[in-house]
Amino acid sequence: MLVSEREQLRDNIEAWVAQYGANRSSLIPVMSEVQQKYGHISEYVMQVVADILDIHPVEVDSVVSFYSFLGHKSKGRFIVRLCRTISCEMQEKDRVARQLENDLGIRFGETTPDGHFTLEWASCLGMCDQGPALLVNERIYTHVTPEKVHDILEECRGTFGVYRPNAQTMMNIQDTDTSEMTFTGVDGRDGLDKAMKMKPEGIVDAIGESGLKGRGGAGFPTSLKWKLAAEMDDEQKYVVCNADEGEPGTFKDRVILTDFPDLMFDGMTIASRAIGANKGIVYLRGEYMYLRASLEEKLVKRRQDGLLGSNVSGINGFDFDIEIRMGAGAYVCGEETALIESLEGQRGEPRNRPPFPVNTGFMGHPTIVNNVETFAWVPCILVKGSSWFKKIGTEKSTGLKLFSVSGDCEKQGVFEFPLGISIHDLLKEVGGEDAKAVQVGGAAGYCIPAGQFDRAISFEDVATGGSIIVFGPERDMLAVAKNFMEFFLDESCGQCTPCREGNLRLFEGIEMLEEGRCSMKYLKDLRQLGESMQVACKCGLGQASPCAFLSIIDNFNDEIMGRVSAAC
Ligand code: FES
Repeated sequence: MLVSEREQLRDNIEAWVAQYGANRSSLIPVMSEVQQKYGHISEYVMQVVADILDIHPVEVDSVVSFYSFLGHKSKGRFIVRLCRTISCEMQEKDRVARQLENDLGIRFGETTPDGHFTLEWASCLGMCDQGPALLVNERIYTHVTPEKVHDILEECRGTFGVYRPNAQTMMNIQDTDTSEMTFTGVDGRDGLDKAMKMKPEGIVDAIGESGLKGRGGAGFPTSLKWKLAAEMDDEQKYVVCNADEGEPGTFKDRVILTDFPDLMFDGMTIASRAIGANKGIVYLRGEYMYLRASLEEKLVKRRQDGLLGSNVSGINGFDFDIEIRMGAGAYVCGEETALIESLEGQRGEPRNRPPFPVNTGFMGHPTIVNNVETFAWVPCILVKGSSWFKKIGTEKSTGLKLFSVSGDCEKQGVFEFPLGISIHDLLKEVGGEDAKAVQVGGAAGYCIPAGQFDRAISFEDVATGGSIIVFGPERDMLAVAKNFMEFFLDESCGQCTPCREGNLRLFEGIEMLEEGRCSMKYLKDLRQLGESMQVACKCGLGQASPCAFLSIIDNFNDEIMGRVSAAC
């Protein structure tokens, strides 16, 4: 690299640090800018960034090596990422993969000799109802066919230098026969206005009376989280929106971020009033980069309307603003403490708890982390009333919920149903009555067989953050288990041994079953290993990683036993 190029590079880095802040928290945004502009992160860059941020280059290196969207290896001008997760797998992604390899003359993981294209596998891109899904830099393509591949690559070749990302995707919101989605009929501003006339503790009480629980899957009572944060005596508190939905089969937050972002921002603003925070952060998954510009525009408008900034909504002393921070391709950052680590410029490794984020969160200050959908329900509850919400659903799982439905059914897309709905009734609505199994809760969830379709989707029975994947009568359930294990192999952060090694052993065990090399004794060992992982892994990701495998060998025993070798 010439001296002048080095100087230019250093100037750029200094400008990005000035933009994001001269502290460790800006490490990932700065690295993402470098990656985008230069295609890779060199040793020189790591040294410069380490100097400016006053950290050791080894620490910079350890962060770069953690996130799949960052890397030392030079990548092509166009990074073509094909989703290989289950819903796309079921929609013939293999034909698309072959076409990509043939057209580009390279294999996955390689870059064309002219440096124009890099071909990579991706985990779920949040387009499971419109697969196979392909991400080219920041541009998303859906319903991709081998024929379309050629056009997409030609489009890239013809647009060198003027390539512009866009987000022309189908939202695919499905109204049921009896109702349309609540979000379409609620003006969040009414909820915000109402909240601004209430005392902070009154807001917490109203949300508590509704029974709202976190819509990301864990189901922690929202009002309790807010109450604990509100009680903390600290000048600096944070409201963080977890927009990192990466669970295979989940895409409902993408619809909110696209069609109803103001509801989410209203919810965050109401939360900030309730707990006494003055800063909000939306942690947006790297795969949704194409949504960033429209979200930033909404924030600008809200500032102009006095809904962000100083004296929000005319309330003296209520200052609150929201910033968008991008993820960099790590599923584990959907876990709230890993997300906070990532925001602080660290590897996205989950923290030991306690302390909890409500006490010691972002930069050591009280922080509430809620999911996109959870925030979006908040203004709706204030507009329509806590009792309206509480009357819907079950005693412990109140209200309505968005579901992302994909797989073998007539209607794929985002649906709104009351919690407590049976799997059978849900399948009737989406045209999937002949299903032999439903995966509830994504790769980290459970595979429910037809004999249990009377079970309720709720926190007290089968819980989910919203992912529903339907498997028709012809599906090979061992192949389903294999796809989920492959996902966890990719996404395990490798921090703890049970997760790092356990997922590898389970994946190898499935391959042995496929090849008729697995004995009954070894299958029992695999089951025991899976059960040990459920207690020994450090975080929720590792603990949940064997669930799909275990539920498939339990519930599809005949199918699995047919693959066990009597000879071994
Ligand atoms: Fe491919 Fe979700 S986009 S499985």
